[in-house]
Amino acid sequence: MGTILPAAGANAGRADRRQLDASASGRYTDAMTDLFSIAGKTAVVTGGSRGIGKMIAAGYVQAGAKVYISSRKVDACEETEAELSQFGECIALPADLARPEECERLAAEITQREGTIDILVNNAGATWGAPMDEFDEDAWERVLAVNVKGVFHLTKHLRPALSAAGAPGNPSSVINIGSIDGLRVPTLETYSYSASKAAVHMLTRHLAKVLAPEIKVNAIAPGPFYSKMMAYTLDNFGEAIAKSCPMKRLGEPDDMAGTAIFLASAASNYITGAVLPVDGGIASLAE
Ligand SMILES: NC(=O)c1ccc[n+]([C@@H]2O[C@H](COP(=O)([O-])OP(=O)(O)OC[C@H]3O[C@@H](n4cnc5c(N)ncnc54)[C@H](OP(=O)(O)O)[C@@H]3O)[C@@H](O)[C@H]2O)c1
Repeated sequence: MGTILPAAGANAGRADRRQLDASASGRYTDAMTDLFSIAGKTAVVTGGSRGIGKMIAAGYVQAGAKVYISSRKVDACEETEAELSQFGECIALPADLARPEECERLAAEITQREGTIDILVNNAGATWGAPMDEFDEDAWERVLAVNVKGVFHLTKHLRPALSAAGAPGNPSSVINIGSIDGLRVPTLETYSYSASKAAVHMLTRHLAKVLAPEIKVNAIAPGPFYSKMMAYTLDNFGEAIAKSCPMKRLGEPDDMAGTAIFLASAASNYITGAVLPVDGGIASLAE
């Protein structure tokens, strides 16, 4: 038999927490205001011009963070900057993050402007699909360069700014965007992509160990979200994918923004090295 908990009214949690404050050691933060808040924080979201990066950047801007977005295409960056600036602070700094020298340049520019950075979302990514016989070196290099090496180089160059913003007990946050394709074998022949995403998950754990306790490092492994990368797949198989998903739908911007806000906020301060699927249960439950 389990314990029967008292019914939770609107103020019940508050009263319980006050009692806990008095009796238990440790810190209790107001869950409705501070615990999940990222207001006033400075964030960098790579690939923030569209798709999942834009979903996260929009969520951060609306939550009161100052957000730098970066991707290769200057026009797309500026368009998103203008769109998100209606809701708060968004600044576009274009860069090709498949190139290590560009990772260094971007990090230097942001560090010079801000000094410290609270949140880095390594989201920029590319994919490639081809039959195994045609899957050449280029198909490996163009994917690994941005999906894996770019994550490492940008984090390395932003490490001083992230360390300066974080402290033991109140770490700054790195969030790497992996994929459920790095957790289970995908249907399509995207060899370098699935391998790159498994690498992102391992890199997340490795960096988490090295960068603790000033910086927490976690990964989100998204399931299907509508984006340019996923347009062909979801236009053709979206209904079937949604049907086979335990939650019976595709991912929505709020699903991604909510998880990214949680991992950037104090609510996740005791989580590092985790890979969190945001996939409606596909990777762990679907057959
Ligand atoms: N959508 C999904 O269902 C899904 C599922 C699992 C994982 N993911 C992951 O989520 C992330 C975002 O994907 P998405 O679906 O939103 O794809 P997307 O719409 O194609 O967006 C990719 C973003 O990355 C940028 N980018 C690509 N190469 C870059 C480079 N060399 N340097 C800088 N920026 C670069 C793109 O902008 P430019 O073209 O201007 O550079 C764009 O902003 C990726 O890591 C992807 O693997 C997505």
